[in-house]
Amino acid sequence: MSQLPDGTALTVLVAGGSGASGIAVARALAAAGHRVATVGSDATRIKAAAGEAGDGVTPFTCDLAEMAGVRRLRDDVGDALGTVDAVIHLVGGWRGATGIADQSDDDWEFLERSAITTLRNVSRVFFDDIAASTHGRFAMVSSTSLDKPTAAVASYVAAKAAAEAWTMAMADGFRKASKDGGGQAAAVVLAVKALVDDGLRRKHPERSFPGATDVADLAAAVVRLLGTPAAELNGARLRLAD
Ligand SMILES: NC(=O)c1ccc[n+]([C@@H]2O[C@H](COP(=O)([O-])OP(=O)(O)OC[C@H]3O[C@@H](n4cnc5c(N)ncnc54)[C@H](OP(=O)(O)O)[C@@H]3O)[C@@H](O)[C@H]2O)c1
Repeated sequence: MSQLPDGTALTVLVAGGSGASGIAVARALAAAGHRVATVGSDATRIKAAAGEAGDGVTPFTCDLAEMAGVRRLRDDVGDALGTVDAVIHLVGGWRGATGIADQSDDDWEFLERSAITTLRNVSRVFFDDIAASTHGRFAMVSSTSLDKPTAAVASYVAAKAAAEAWTMAMADGFRKASKDGGGQAAAVVLAVKALVDDGLRRKHPERSFPGATDVADLAAAVVRLLGTPAAELNGARLRLAD
């Protein structure tokens, strides 16, 4: 049963689907009737994640930081499930230090690769497909720590700010494509303070996770994005934290 009022089932790529957030998002999208491609860099982990997400979720293995691989991924997903309408970008990671002076090059390299390069690659390869779709969407998950950056997370907030800026530039690209006779696409930032899931709660029964967003709530927000008119969403930064 499709979640969209007009009965459309979309092809949605979950980029970075191997973790709890990816499993929840893929599961909710498939339950809403969409065709879901979930991608991770490790074959065993992404197959297990797709299995946990359930029927309607197809795993693909690709290092999204490598452009040639992302181009092959577009062909593979297109052959298996059809042209991609929407990309939900979940690759990010986290690195912190004690202040500015000890922000390390290694951490910056990691964050640049995971939070920025994967997003740039995926958006460059899938932009035209999303822009041409009647329900095109690109969403990334960012952090409320950008609202008030602290010294300890300088590299992390800088990388996330770059990814957010890129996503807002995509929104401009979608606006222009729509004016030029393209589809109805939107680029959106979803900002959370932290993500939590049942596994994390079980692992840390002593913690209360204040302000954290459950991955099920993130997933529900992602499903809603597909059914909300693009004009209401394009360029929005939606806060999912308390
Ligand atoms: N967790 C939080 O508390 C929190 C807080 C604020 C914002 N966020 C943001 O929310 C999003 C989801 O966070 P998360 O913690 O659930 O996910 P994550 O651990 O940052 O990444 C999700 C998955 O991406 C895969 N991945 C990593 N590098 C990849 C690559 N080069 N190519 C393909 N896949 C790759 C990893 O699986 P493999 O290693 O198996 O590929 C990983 O399980 C991220 O953008 C994160 O920055 C999270």
